[in-house]
Amino acid sequence: MMEEDMKAILYTKEEVAARIQAMGEQLTRDYQGELPLVVGVLRGSFIFMADLVRSIQTPLELDFVAASSYGSWAVSTGTVEMRLDLEKEIIGRHVLLVEDILDTGRTLSKLVTELKKRHPASLKLCVLLDKPERRVTEIEADYVGFTVPDEFVVGCGLDFNQKYRQLPYIGILKPSIYQ
Ligand code: PRP
Repeated sequence: MMEEDMKAILYTKEEVAARIQAMGEQLTRDYQGELPLVVGVLRGSFIFMADLVRSIQTPLELDFVAASSYGSWAVSTGTVEMRLDLEKEIIGRHVLLVEDILDTGRTLSKLVTELKKRHPASLKLCVLLDKPERRVTEIEADYVGFTVPDEFVVGCGLDFNQKYRQLPYIGILKPSIYQ
């Protein structure tokens, strides 16, 4: 069982669901009448994004980008590349970038820099998890689900070697699994 690989459950399935529901209600108010383009950053965001948009009660459109960083989880080289681009132009659009985690900030910093060049009407960041202790760039999310300690978190889209993404809770992985 995957649960045996967890040192602890940081947020249960119910806590995650309740938090995402509240975020959706906030976004419903903030984007009323604006037809936002909600952009998921693959792959980690896909589960959070699916739950989030189902809790937003105002019309929206969806798109995806993919970014890849090189280097291991612990020692990133800091190189981020955009590997899948948006389908449509975003000039004049209200764009909401959705991520599973804001960690060092390199991925979202790179994407924000790229997307701002295209002159959206607004560009905001929505992350399920924020891990501020690890930040190396100056970036903050506009919407944060949970602020988490510097632990190896998995579940709700977050992986270790592509595994554990489907866990419905946020767990802290046992060091023996990744060391
Ligand atoms: C993870 C996560 C974010 C990024 C955050 O992606 O999904 O995109 O790292 O880290 P940062 O703030 O330090 O840039 P990863 O590159 O592991 O790919 P994935 O989305 O496929 O899991």
